[in-house]
Amino acid sequence: MILDIVTLNDQMLHSKSEEVKEIDTEIVKLVKDMYDTMELAKGVGLSAVQVGVLKRIFVTDVPQKGGKLVVINPVIKDLSEKRRVYEEGCLSIPGISGDIERPDTVVIEFLDIRGKLQRVHANSLLATCIQHEFDHLNGILFIDKLDPEIKLKKINEYRKQHRL
Ligand code: NI
Repeated sequence: MILDIVTLNDQMLHSKSEEVKEIDTEIVKLVKDMYDTMELAKGVGLSAVQVGVLKRIFVTDVPQKGGKLVVINPVIKDLSEKRRVYEEGCLSIPGISGDIERPDTVVIEFLDIRGKLQRVHANSLLATCIQHEFDHLNGILFIDKLDPEIKLKKINEYRKQHRL
């Protein structure tokens, strides 16, 4: 089932998501729907808050080895000192992108859809995607990482594009 994606004008995107207590059939269905929604929208990552559910879950589909992940209750264990810049976008802010600098690699622990603890060491685009989605769970958008002046410019650009 395709879900509606929450967009920038919704304050929900600034809310902190809650830990998943139990991976029940409802969560399994939600994750499947999130994948379908992400695929249709041609995204590489989607968090539950973006479909209106404040739970610490995100999915990724980055075109690199190991790039397809279901991530539940993630904990970032390590970030590299080395950083890199990627031009990021977000399904919740369609039409807008911005250059964001983040650590080049990330080590993350999380539960998979079977409730099994996983540890992934990610680099390049997957590392960026994981950090971008992790931020969503804490109510942070990529534009929040921009210089305030540039952020305002991007928001105005978005409003203009979408006639808000
Ligand atoms: Ni996003």
